[in-house]
Amino acid sequence: MKICPESLALAKELLLAGQVVAFPTETVYGLGAWAYSAEGIRRIYEAKGRPSDNPLIVHVAPGASLEGIAEEIPQRAEVLMDRFWPGPLTLIMPRDKDHIPSEVTGGLETVAIRMPSGAGARALLSFCGIPVVAPSANTSGRPSPTTALHVLEDLGGKIPLILDGGPCEVGLESTIVDLTEEKPLVLRPGGITLEMLKRWIPDIDLDPGVKGAISVDAKVVPKAPGMKYRHYAPKGHLILTNAPAERWKQWIREDLSRASEEQGKDKTTVRIGVIASNEMLEDLEQEGVLKLCHAAISLGYVKEPEMAAQLLFGALRQADEKELDIIYGEAFSREGVGEAIMNRFVKASAEQRIL
Ligand code: TXA
Ligand code: MG
Repeated sequence: MKICPESLALAKELLLAGQVVAFPTETVYGLGAWAYSAEGIRRIYEAKGRPSDNPLIVHVAPGASLEGIAEEIPQRAEVLMDRFWPGPLTLIMPRDKDHIPSEVTGGLETVAIRMPSGAGARALLSFCGIPVVAPSANTSGRPSPTTALHVLEDLGGKIPLILDGGPCEVGLESTIVDLTEEKPLVLRPGGITLEMLKRWIPDIDLDPGVKGAISVDAKVVPKAPGMKYRHYAPKGHLILTNAPAERWKQWIREDLSRASEEQGKDKTTVRIGVIASNEMLEDLEQEGVLKLCHAAISLGYVKEPEMAAQLLFGALRQADEKELDIIYGEAFSREGVGEAIMNRFVKASAEQRIL
């Protein structure tokens, strides 16, 4: 979906005036402000209800220079920029302190930079010719928005403009790589996978703070400030599990009878749903589980994790729309983009049942 020149012109006017504008990228929708506008940056934190110690990513147009943003470009960054920009990869570099306000980086000496490949983001950044800071355009804590409608749900009435570029292709936020320390680290897994990065930077590894089976080790603090918050959680109790369909059936039956016994509730008033692959949904159907559920939300086929990545945030939002009390989610393999899927799914979950 192409964004018309009139909308781009309006967006530019708003950004230069210190306002915020939501726009599509290949990962998720962003809430943009001009990187040099203190007023615009303040409005981002205000609209999202975001903690001010959580720094923002600076977005630049294809081919744009990083002058006035990064103090220097580490050699390893050049390698990754050549290979993966424009695309869903954010690089942490030393901050140009004379130009980038400290409000952008939550007081850090480093700055996160990304050159998005999504058509809408490219059009906006090229048209405006300015660096744009943008967090995901959701209310802080909610799943990141992957359609303009998701942005409207969260920020409607709070921001002056949402540019609609259709659904985002990747569906999860960009991979973040820190190149300012001796050991290169992935601070947030995303569409550019660890395997892809290792081909160019063999000693790169996942930040220990984002590692884990399907559990998060609370003792290790993640290096990206934003990764320490619980995120994306639906209102209902999300149970993430790698158990087979028979176990789901057993658990759901138990949930239903517990609800009717303990709370004196009618069985039908407890709203249970599932978020799973098509294969799992078929198994659940055969086990007779789906008829006990209020919602069966698909993440596509197991063999196509890119599809699950694209659908996950929408699926978590649907769980709220359907007012589910209990949600069973299927754990995916951590291979490739699975690392990013599981990173978000674990953060959204209230409980994990690992077999
Ligand atoms: O795909 C994306 O990256 C999307 C789109 C809109 O571009 N943006 C996005 O922004 O996900 P946000 O604000 O939701 O997440 C930015 C993450 C946070 O976890 C933040 O802590 C981390 O980047 N970050 C930003 N600057 C950093 C820095 N200097 N050092 C370490 N982490 C940083
Ligand atoms: Mg975010």
